[in-house]
Amino acid sequence: TDGVLVDRYGRVARDLRVSLTDKCNLRCTYCMPAEGLPWLAGPELLTDEEIVRLVRVAVERLGVTEVRFTGGEPLIRPGLVGIVTAVAALQPRPRISLTTNGIGLDRVAAALSAAGLDRVNVSLDTLDADRFTRLTRRPRLDAVLAGLAGAAAAGLRPVKINSVLMRGVNEDEAPALLRFALDHDYQLRIIEQMPLDAQHGWDRSTMVTAEEILASLRTTFDLSPDPAERGAAPAETWLVDGGPARVGVIASVTRPFCGDCDRTRLTADGQVRACLFATEESDLRAALRTGADDDELARRWRTAMWGKRAGHGIDDPTFLQPTRPMSAIGG
Ligand code: GTP
Ligand code: 5AD
Ligand code: SF4
Repeated sequence: TDGVLVDRYGRVARDLRVSLTDKCNLRCTYCMPAEGLPWLAGPELLTDEEIVRLVRVAVERLGVTEVRFTGGEPLIRPGLVGIVTAVAALQPRPRISLTTNGIGLDRVAAALSAAGLDRVNVSLDTLDADRFTRLTRRPRLDAVLAGLAGAAAAGLRPVKINSVLMRGVNEDEAPALLRFALDHDYQLRIIEQMPLDAQHGWDRSTMVTAEEILASLRTTFDLSPDPAERGAAPAETWLVDGGPARVGVIASVTRPFCGDCDRTRLTADGQVRACLFATEESDLRAALRTGADDDELARRWRTAMWGKRAGHGIDDPTFLQPTRPMSAIGG
């Protein structure tokens, strides 16, 4: 390789998150307005070949070992199975995962598994059909549950569930979500909401904190610290009722893990972001389309990561939300 993606604080990015589209078939209120967003235009999106080329550079020359596809909703990208197939053929073969809302996953899980997808994380914030419809503005709870079951049946394990808790919406559901996850052998992670919504409506004072999440779970379950190494994982995990089942809490706001961050990001329009909250991007699409060779792409990617900031800075008085919403960054 040409050297790894190291930043000035010594963190090494081995985990690449690739957004395949900024579009989505849900409209979660904490993410998008009902009418959707001004989507990227077709020619702005990287083609399947361009995505695979950039992932190849990251894997072959920059030491990336984990590739996660995100969105928007990555299952709505027509070329997904082909992209996974091509990435699974890279050497050294990276681990490949997907973060999805689960709609349609039951129909493609077997094909994705055969293509080389290792595992999936599915977003699910409520088990109540009416709440689901209010929260996502689409009546698709059953489709998500079918997607989860289909993923497990296809061997895309562990199947993780991501739940964002919101005050006055689903803040009471942590125990029920955990019971559901335990019953189906899914791994639940409950997430603190971050300031990434397109509507800029996030409010720290109303955010459901990790402390509250743990207290809520403890009304029903015994949680003990997980002896397993956490590494660079965003989730802090707990053994449930003595284990082996676990539950995770992703406390990006109240217990930031930026110091251990190992991520680099590629947006659907070919911009490298050193951080979810980065204010700068590096335009690899322009480089690629004006004839840059792999050396040049690798060099630009390393330069972009060198500039990664120490942390997200949510607590700084000067904090500004990124101009791109979560759905266009890839979570
Ligand atoms: P695993 O490898 O399965 O642990 O996946 P993950 O938790 O890294 O990824 P996933 O896409 O499931 O994201 C879960 C939550 O973590 C989402 O709310 C993401 O926005 C958040 N997340 C992912 N990467 C980062 C990051 O670099 N910083 C912060 N603050 N949050 C992140
Ligand atoms: N803060 C934290 N997590 C979020 N997600 C979407 N928006 C936010 C936010 N503002 C979650 C989704 C999905 C994952 C990719 O990120 O629910 O599970
Ligand atoms: Fe779609 Fe995910 Fe945003 Fe919900 S959070 S609207 S599933 S991109």
